[in-house]
Amino acid sequence: MITKNIIPATTNQELSESIFKLKKEKNAVILAHYYQETAIQDVADYIGDSLGLSQQAATTDADIIVFAGVHFMAETAKILNPTKKVLLPDLNAGCSLAESCPPDAFKKFILQHPQHIVVTYINCSAEIKTLSNIVCTSANAEKIINSIPKNKPIIFAPDKNLGKYLMHKTGREMLLWNGACVVHEAFAIEKILALHQKYPKAHIVAHPESEEHILKIAHYVGSTTGMINYVKNTDAPEFIIATEAGILNQMAKEVTNKSLIPAPAQEDNHCACSECAYMKVNTLEKLYLCLKDESPEIIIEENIRKKALAPILKMLEISSL
Ligand code: 13P
Ligand code: SF4
Repeated sequence: MITKNIIPATTNQELSESIFKLKKEKNAVILAHYYQETAIQDVADYIGDSLGLSQQAATTDADIIVFAGVHFMAETAKILNPTKKVLLPDLNAGCSLAESCPPDAFKKFILQHPQHIVVTYINCSAEIKTLSNIVCTSANAEKIINSIPKNKPIIFAPDKNLGKYLMHKTGREMLLWNGACVVHEAFAIEKILALHQKYPKAHIVAHPESEEHILKIAHYVGSTTGMINYVKNTDAPEFIIATEAGILNQMAKEVTNKSLIPAPAQEDNHCACSECAYMKVNTLEKLYLCLKDESPEIIIEENIRKKALAPILKMLEISSL
């Protein structure tokens, strides 16, 4: 007997064809992050970074949004689209940064600093967003911090690495929450430097969730879309890419004449290849099933949704200026 969540042996080609058919029938759109597996990226209507994905979510006229990414991304899409169905192929697609900031502890922290403006990186739960004045992504964080009057003290959460980087870029002192991304903290500086000795012409390109010592040696630091654009527009033969390995798929499509070298992770990282285990719980098969069954769906209590919407809208407004 075939149960709801098991499908008979099917090829990726067949699954993709069924997904394209279902998308049309249901007026659904698939929004995918660069870290998703290649087969998922290949059926997506839009692939992007967190900012691009939330901008797409804010403007789509589809009835169903299938979010091929992690939970906070799908949650943001739902906050922006209360009347649409927002689906996530696997609800276990979490994020270590979001997990590093539990609402009760964060509430206590901000109560101790009532004069501070609370800026939260989009990699956090809806509940944390209800406690923030403005949300940011890696693509617009510097602009968001610079939009805050100089005399206002700032709390930045949950990513301490991005926070430190922003303090350096903007010259602003900020109170940082002690969160981090397990994937970006796994990069091994000594291995990256050894690689650079082997490829001295290579540019090092890093995501700002990486640790300070990695960001210091990087030729470019930016969001995933920023990294792709840098590689596309920079005249160098090789690039060492310090972010999740899934980005290489889209990067390689856009840049055919340059070598892309994934930055190595520490030995104790179980896959040693800087893959985000959270992103990779989504599969093409789960994506097909969730579109077919219209489940699992993201549900947010209306009170939380409304409060979380304000700091996201503020971010989108400042980003468009
Ligand atoms: P981007 O918004 O730069 O794509 O980052 C998302 C993320 O989760 C990085 O780990
Ligand atoms: Fe979260 Fe890090 Fe995975 Fe991005 S790479 S989704 S920040 S755990």
